Amino acid sequence: MVARAYLDHASTSPLRPAALEAMLPFLREHHADPGRLHAEGKVTRVALEEAREQVAALLGAGAREVVFTASGTEAINAAVFGAVATADHPHIVTTAVEHSAVLDACERSPADVTVVGVDEIGRFDPDEVVAAVRDDTTLVSVQLANHEVGTIQPAGEVAAACRERASLVHVDACMAAGHVPVDFRALDADFCSVSAHKFGGPKGAGALLVRRGVRVAPLIVGGAQERARRGGLENVAAMVGFGAACAALAGEELAGEATTARALVERAAEGVARVPGVQRYGDPVGAVPHLLCIGVEGIEAEPVLLGLDQHGVAVHSGSACSSEILEPSPILAAMGVDAEHSLRVSVGWNSTSADIDLFVDAFPKVVERLRALRTG
Ligand SMILES: Cc1ncc(COP(=O)(O)O)c(C=O)c1O
Repeated sequence: MVARAYLDHASTSPLRPAALEAMLPFLREHHADPGRLHAEGKVTRVALEEAREQVAALLGAGAREVVFTASGTEAINAAVFGAVATADHPHIVTTAVEHSAVLDACERSPADVTVVGVDEIGRFDPDEVVAAVRDDTTLVSVQLANHEVGTIQPAGEVAAACRERASLVHVDACMAAGHVPVDFRALDADFCSVSAHKFGGPKGAGALLVRRGVRVAPLIVGGAQERARRGGLENVAAMVGFGAACAALAGEELAGEATTARALVERAAEGVARVPGVQRYGDPVGAVPHLLCIGVEGIEAEPVLLGLDQHGVAVHSGSACSSEILEPSPILAAMGVDAEHSLRVSVGWNSTSADIDLFVDAFPKVVERLRALRTG
């Protein structure tokens, strides 16, 4: 079999063995509704609550602050629509580099939306975000790390400044959680959304952290699950896997994986830097450790992606949810980058130096061939 290197963990990571093992009994035998009083229900209820504790522990939240959802996208929608539901004339402040889940939810909501720009490394200025907050602002929604270029954002500064204001604050931590420490209490936000599959939990599992005392109208109604904050029978197996993935990162593990990821990414960065005309996007020091975002002068990202794929290397161009839509990247545009798409190389819990070797070997060959084709 031809060797392949999967370097698209920022889209989604494979399931960690510990998560799979924890899930299997809940796929095979323990199927009961955790809301029921019988013994079978107690088994799933105990497992669900243990998973909630594990998620809360990794994210510095109280277990009762964790509302399980079916994705990061759902958690984000719940925060945006929930926050504006009861306001007469809602106003939201957000940024130009948010995930489409945030931007589309804001657009679909009845709110008046103010979008704040970013600098050339994709970072928003917290003062600019706070300056856009009005007396009638209902929600400020900012990300903790950017999903395309990896830049870590000053979300905590925004939350702190908004504390004295009436506005609620939502932090999208889907690209940060499991890769850099996320401490909901220290962040001091009202909502924080996370996604399990970005760090080795199952797909279709996420959580919205809701600060104690904050009341939010549920996005999904029709059941009293999740303490009436999200209707629908919980996917216990998925949440158990989510909890196990969080537990796998407890203690020193997260820092250990982050150090390994950064070393792999820097090796990849050194490799691509040897090719003339390669530019690195985002913040080279203040970025999530597992992601490298580049552009190749004179060549669009997609043919590079396809060339790498032929060499056995899976990377991505653009953000996870836009693979079918080849529209120019709004993130690069907001950063003032003169390119339509970037190439995103990202590692995860099971990445090895052999993966990087394959990439570093293939990349110059692919670029050279594309440049030769261009010059005829
Ligand atoms: C920053 C950010 N927010 C939200 C999401 C959506 O998460 P999910 O795939 O769980 O819906 C993603 C996924 O790409 C993301 O990177």
